[in-house]
Amino acid sequence: MKYIWFLPLSLLMLASCDDHLLGTTESAPCVRQPPLTYENFGLPMIEKNCAGCHSSLHAGIDRSNAPVGVDFDTWDGILLWADRIHVRTYEDLTMPPTGGLTEVELDDFDEWMRCEVFPNAERF
Ligand code: HEC
Repeated sequence: MKYIWFLPLSLLMLASCDDHLLGTTESAPCVRQPPLTYENFGLPMIEKNCAGCHSSLHAGIDRSNAPVGVDFDTWDGILLWADRIHVRTYEDLTMPPTGGLTEVELDDFDEWMRCEVFPNAERF
C-alpha cells in the first residue's frame, strides 16, 4: 500500500508522452537517401489526395465539407495539423474519405511525416 501513489503517477507519465513520437519505434528508421521531402514527396502527395478539399484556395461548396481552416496547401498548415493528418490518413485510414492510397504510398507518407514533418512541427 505504501507505493500505491506510484500507479497514478506512472499513468500520468504515460499519458504525457509526446504523441509526435508515437509510431517511431516500430516503423522504419529515417535512413533513406535522398530523403522524402516536402518538395519531392509531401507537396505532390497532399495536392493529389487532400488539397482538392483542404485548401485555403477553396471556399464554400468547393471544400466538399472539409472544415474551414483545416488547410494543407502550405507547409505551415501541414505542420499545424500534423498529428491529425497522420491519424486520419495513416492510423485510422479515414482520409481521404474515399481511400485509395496503396500500402506503399501509406508507408512512404508515414515515413515522410515522421522524418520531416514531426521534427519540424515541434515548434508549434
Ligand atoms: C473529398 C474531400 C476530402 C478530401 C480529398 C480529404 N478530406 Fe479531410 N476532411 C473532409 C471532410 C468532409 C472533413 C470533416 C469530416 C470529418 O472529419 O470526417 C475532413 C476533415 C479532416 C481533418 C480534420 C478533422 C480531424 O480529424 O482532426 C483532417 C486532419 C483531415 N480531414 C485530413 C485529410 C488528409 C490528410 C487528406 C488527404 C490524405 C484529406 N483529409 C482528404 C474532406 C476531405
